Amino acid sequence: MAFYLWFFFLILQILNHSAICTTLKTNFYSETCPKAEVIVKEVMKKAMRKEARSIASVMRLQFHDCFVNGCDASLLLDDTPNMLGEKLALSNIDSLRSYDVVDEVKEALEKACPGVVSCADLLVIAARDAVVLSGGPYWEVKLGRLDSLTASQEDSNKIMPSPRSNATYLIDLFSRFNLSVQDLVALSGSHSIGKGRCFSIVFRLYNQSGSGRPDPAIEPSFREKLDKLCPLGGDGNVTGDLDATPEIFDNQYFKDLVNGRGFLNSDQTLFTYPITREYVRVFSINQESFFKAFAQGMIKMGDLQSGRPGEIRRNCRVVNSHRPRVEVLFETSKRKE
Ligand code: HEM
Ligand SMILES: *[C@@H]1O[C@H](CO)[C@@H](O)[C@H](O)[C@H]1NC(C)=O
Ligand SMILES: *[C@@H]1O[C@H](CO)[C@@H](O)[C@H](O)[C@H]1NC(C)=O
Ligand SMILES: *[C@@H]1O[C@H](CO)[C@@H](O)[C@H](O)[C@H]1NC(C)=O
Ligand SMILES: *[C@@H]1O[C@H](CO)[C@@H](O)[C@H](O)[C@H]1NC(C)=O
Repeated sequence: MAFYLWFFFLILQILNHSAICTTLKTNFYSETCPKAEVIVKEVMKKAMRKEARSIASVMRLQFHDCFVNGCDASLLLDDTPNMLGEKLALSNIDSLRSYDVVDEVKEALEKACPGVVSCADLLVIAARDAVVLSGGPYWEVKLGRLDSLTASQEDSNKIMPSPRSNATYLIDLFSRFNLSVQDLVALSGSHSIGKGRCFSIVFRLYNQSGSGRPDPAIEPSFREKLDKLCPLGGDGNVTGDLDATPEIFDNQYFKDLVNGRGFLNSDQTLFTYPITREYVRVFSINQESFFKAFAQGMIKMGDLQSGRPGEIRRNCRVVNSHRPRVEVLFETSKRKE
């Protein structure tokens, strides 16, 4: 009996040591870096005091990381002479921001527990904290991800959705990641915090679907407001609030959609299309159901993995110094011992 148990645990150990297939779990760092989550939260709090929007910007990074070859911090790699990273991809250039906050979190983590907490896990913890610090729900995050050894601008360009997307396109895209219609609508509720650029909405203000007309789904007085903020031929980098309460994580975003006051086309489309509309309506009147579905969606999105080998980066912007691949693999399995 004892032998069988021993053998069973041996097999478990071997499975657990594979660098390819990491099992995510809560409290992953309870022994190797017990303060990890407290450290992330403190730096995020500090960032919020400095600039409220920055925590929304950091939260967005989880989405742009996880959809492109899994949650592996590939997004955070700077370009190198032989690798075009994801930071300058279509959906990210002049748009993703607050990488400096990520650097600060990583520095604090490295100081407390050098070489232990991955940048991919950092993003997932920080995204949860951004939601909590803005008044949204708390959930336990599953951890144990490895950081990628490479990034792909091409993959990001192919995958990340345009703000022009309609609901059918988004439903299809999310389903390719095993995310349901409810997940899509709930996760879009992340736009309860943060801002977007005029560049992302001018087409719907002046030439929706090449019609030469504005998107008819925009409520007229809201459209007037947006026209003033984003005049035709104006500065595309000017920003507007994604919902009426851009520093509070609440269900105002869904109330806005019901009233034709969504900022992005990809937001308003969720109320225009019948399949997504019911979810918008429910979330707009029941904040608790939104919070629950949102946490569920974030956990599912956080489960996406590439299955490729990885490492614990020391600096989120660059892979660790070049060593033969065998050593990299060795190090990733060693950390679990
Ligand atoms: C459903 C498909 C989605 C589309 C098409 C989309 C698109 C966009 C766009 C165009 C912006 C404004 C960027 C700019 O104008 O520079 C934005 C902002 C934002 N997105 Fe999304 N998004 C989607 C889903 C998500 C998800 C799933 C999350 C996170 C869980 C997220 C989090 C955010 C946040 C927090 C901001 C504000 C960032 C800031 O203020 O810096 N988005 N999104
Ligand atoms: C939705 O968008 C896709 C991709 O851009 C397009 O092919 C499709 O025709 C659109 N659907 C509708 C109903 O407009
Ligand atoms: C979606 O689920 C299927 C069946 O469980 C699985 O084979 C597939 O790898 C999953 N896809 C993603 C992107 O996780
Ligand atoms: C609107 O878009 C269509 C198709 O993309 C284009 O042919 C047309 O010139 C645009 N009109 C204006 C006023 O920009
Ligand atoms: C926004 O600003 C960046 C750099 O400051 C510039 O390169 C870019 O062209 C601007 N984008 C738009 C849409 O105006």
